[in-house]
Amino acid sequence: MILRKAKFSDVEAIYALINDYADKGLMLARSRNTLYESLREFTLAEENGVIVGVGALHTCWDELGEIRALAVAPSMARTGIGRMIVEKLTEEALAIGVVTLYALTYQPGFFAKLGFVEKPKETLSHKVWKECINCAKFPNCDEIAMVKILPNS
Ligand SMILES: CC(C)(COP(=O)(O)OP(=O)(O)OC[C@H]1O[C@@H](n2cnc3c(N)ncnc32)[C@H](O)[C@@H]1OP(=O)(O)O)[C@@H](O)C(=O)NCCC(=O)NCCS
Repeated sequence: MILRKAKFSDVEAIYALINDYADKGLMLARSRNTLYESLREFTLAEENGVIVGVGALHTCWDELGEIRALAVAPSMARTGIGRMIVEKLTEEALAIGVVTLYALTYQPGFFAKLGFVEKPKETLSHKVWKECINCAKFPNCDEIAMVKILPNS
């Protein structure tokens, strides 16, 4: 198993992994356009040449970072890949000075295992909601905000 940054040639695999879950209502869909625009945000887990997990670190305001588009291949679930990706993205977040790292998720239990704490969504910066207008669920967001304060402060 290796963790590495994404390349253009990974986009179809990232697209498939995320949108298979999105089709089942388990996470938000991502277009190819979005993936090409945010390619440098992605870290991937690869085993024997196959992409088995993806996740991205997005920044939107001072000291504010989001873990998003996190997905592990169903056949490899609960084998520690999600944790590895989040830990790698957290290292990236620390390196650039993120203090508040958050995820908007339907899997609060997973993030709780990694030291994130549930917070009322309203306590996050309003900048977080900029992209929500593009979401099919807007304005009826049912995701849960999970937050981790990093030792950059
Ligand atoms: C949520 C997801 C990323 C977890 O990845 P994973 O590789 O299966 O998780 P890990 O094996 O690294 O689990 C780490 C810990 O969290 C626990 N965990 C995993 N999924 C969990 C869940 N849904 N609820 C509660 N705990 C969970 C594991 O048991 C493990 O606990 P342990 O340290 O005590 O052994 C994966 O199930 C997934 O891709 N789900 C569908 C897409 C999705 O919901 N993404 C999140 C969008 S923000």
